[in-house]
Amino acid sequence: MAPERERGVWGSKIAFILAASGSAIGLGNIWRFPMITGKSGGAIFVFIYILAVVLIGFTVLLGEITIGRFSQKNPVGAFKFIKPGTKWSLVGYLGVLTGIFILSYYAVIAGWTLGYFVKFLTGSFRGEITTDITNRIFSQFTSSPITVLIYFFVIIGITTYIISRGVKGGIERWSKILMPVLFILIILLAIRAITLPGAEKGLLFYLKPDFSKLSGKILLFAIGQAFFSLSLGMGTMITYGSYISKRDNLVTSAGWVAFSDTLIALLAGFIIFPTLFAIPGISPGEGAGLVFKVLPLVFSKLPGGIIFGALFFLLLTIAALTSTISLLEVPVAYLVDEKNWTRTQAASLTGLITFLLGIPSALSTGANSFLTKINFLGWIDFLFGNISLAIGALFICIFIGWIWGVKNASKEVEKGNPQFKIKKLWAFSVRFLSPIAVLIILIFIKTIVG
Ligand code: PFF
Repeated sequence: MAPERERGVWGSKIAFILAASGSAIGLGNIWRFPMITGKSGGAIFVFIYILAVVLIGFTVLLGEITIGRFSQKNPVGAFKFIKPGTKWSLVGYLGVLTGIFILSYYAVIAGWTLGYFVKFLTGSFRGEITTDITNRIFSQFTSSPITVLIYFFVIIGITTYIISRGVKGGIERWSKILMPVLFILIILLAIRAITLPGAEKGLLFYLKPDFSKLSGKILLFAIGQAFFSLSLGMGTMITYGSYISKRDNLVTSAGWVAFSDTLIALLAGFIIFPTLFAIPGISPGEGAGLVFKVLPLVFSKLPGGIIFGALFFLLLTIAALTSTISLLEVPVAYLVDEKNWTRTQAASLTGLITFLLGIPSALSTGANSFLTKINFLGWIDFLFGNISLAIGALFICIFIGWIWGVKNASKEVEKGNPQFKIKKLWAFSVRFLSPIAVLIILIFIKTIVG
């Protein structure tokens, strides 16, 4: 067997937690969470989101890594292994497809972050920055087809390269060193934002829920965002779980991943909303451009803001890369395990397909008027980032709860955690609470989206 086809194992428990957090933490926390919170009325969304993470996200996360570690396989192989000769492997195929589609626009946004790193370095944000300036810079940047496509291509290129080098060399090294630095920067920015004059209104918007605003849409988006942010519903965590050692405690590992991911998202909100209200001119419901327009404002209020800005966007690009590689890992692990391709072949082909699929998204924020008008990127994100992940997560719950069986799954969990104290709660959520909540949302999707 060629060395690059061997299956790796994480060096330690902490290595898994860091790599899985690397997958979870990314643009979902810093770009998507504030965007959706802003569109969905602020605090009420935040409140429901936290519930969704604790009650449903954690359940599915533990479920996925349990399937992964038990089967030691990619998502397609895992279902085939546990229930051979059934249609369950379709859930794995759906994941492979979803991974490619999510990556196709995710890498576009990651390209924007890389572009903003370069902009900070080259002086676009020097001097006093106003909302007019950030608005203009953003729309000029995203409406230039060549620029957006080049950055997008670079992101796909780096992702493909890292993935083709294999699990340990590629993923582990990156996550270990850089996430803590990003974390410190985020705390610093949150402190600066909260202490801006006029920040209180933003804090109220972000933290004081108005329960009369609760709606089906908020439930749908909160659950969808929980899956997106924790990298669930498409088998990423099955794949990552397949590299965990049998001695590790899956419950605490899942707990750490969910906790750190949620913490970063909540902190991102503490940067965006106080700034947004302290420096008027951008609406909370702004959409995909929100954080790109707001962040330069905070940096301009910080001594050494240009350096911090450059560093922040560089680290955010790297955080995005640890997520893009996890997205590409799903189709690649499938081709390597099931079809006997080499990692290099698999990564090159899927990378190329993803790039082609992402072109319309890349052109849909100003570069092409038709794609912009129909908000192509927004729709792909909704279909794959919300609906497809929710469908995947629903089937994963049904599979664990009713097909493979909570008893069998628990046996796997108990290997590194003989007490498994939350067994009953988890069983209840995986069999009833989570699938029913997701199912109801999906059934009413038409009325919800309206
Ligand atoms: N969780 C990543 C983020 O929040 O940025 C995005 C993501 C990665 C979603 C991997 C799904 C996935 F399988």
